[in-house]
Amino acid sequence: MTAIIESMQKDSNVESTLNYNIYNKDCIKGLKILPNDSIDCIITDPPYFIDGMGSEWNDTNLKTKASKSGVIGGLPVGMKFDKAQGERLQEFMNPLANEFYRILKPGAFCIVFSQARLYHRMAMSLDLAGFEIRDMLVWKYEGQAKAFSQTHFIKKDKKLTEIQKESLIKELEGYKTPQLKPQIEPMVMAQKPKDGTFVQNWQKHKLGLINTKESLDGKFPSNVMEVSKHTRKSESNIKIEHLTPKPVCLISHLIRLFTQEGQIVLDPFMGSGSHGIAALNNHRFFVGYEIEKKYFEIAKKRIEQEVL
Ligand SMILES: C[S@@+](CC[C@H](N)C(=O)[O-])C[C@H]1O[C@@H](n2cnc3c(N)ncnc32)[C@H](O)[C@@H]1O
Repeated sequence: MTAIIESMQKDSNVESTLNYNIYNKDCIKGLKILPNDSIDCIITDPPYFIDGMGSEWNDTNLKTKASKSGVIGGLPVGMKFDKAQGERLQEFMNPLANEFYRILKPGAFCIVFSQARLYHRMAMSLDLAGFEIRDMLVWKYEGQAKAFSQTHFIKKDKKLTEIQKESLIKELEGYKTPQLKPQIEPMVMAQKPKDGTFVQNWQKHKLGLINTKESLDGKFPSNVMEVSKHTRKSESNIKIEHLTPKPVCLISHLIRLFTQEGQIVLDPFMGSGSHGIAALNNHRFFVGYEIEKKYFEIAKKRIEQEVL
């Protein structure tokens, strides 16, 4: 066991075994106990900062709102447009990005999922913290079209005559709100600056280079990763009661690209625990935080059941 994992297990709030420590805790507080330069990789999927999935992420509220056919605030999940969402995401992420930078070892990778329209804010937070932004990775999946026709609004418009309405509806046939069918989720591929050259950093920390023998399709690994979207069923066929679980095989691929066996992978926003399962099944140590008790319990159960 690594010394850092062992020292964390003295904390009474931790749920731990020989190879993982998971906390039902706000990561903003939790990360503070981690020493400088102690973690080998962060792979995380923070709140999206859309439709109630921000720093105020609250399962009961979200569930009530989303229970009606995936609708939040009268719109399908992810549809509400608000320019302030990006600012709020960056405000939330700036101090966290500083913590990520502090606790990662030199040359370590920090892979952070984001939403296509707020990605730039996430990249900016990591950039400002000192990370080198090395690439944008893309999770490619089969998405569902979400754009809206305007027919309903035209019909309700009291300022238009019936003839104008008919003409506008005809003119706007096939025209929808500006959302193309989402097929990707971007990730920032950030790296903490190295200690010397790539080779020197590798000799000191076994970090900083990627394992190109790892592949999803037998070819040289690419920055576009095609993995089918999670069906909300876990590998052991249990329904995952979380809105945004990531496919374990996608996270496994990232873990094998960016880390070595025996290294420590951290996920400060654990949700249903997919990153923990991927880390442990690939023989890495895992540290995770989840603020919501309900999700924490799901993650704990999944880790117990799905880690081989
Ligand atoms: C996008 S989800 C992560 C989903 C996860 N990747 C999975 O595969 O299930 C983000 C999670 O972060 C949690 N969260 C939000 N703020 C948090 C905080 N300050 N500390 C820890 N967890 C937090 C939310 O409750 C939510 O479960």
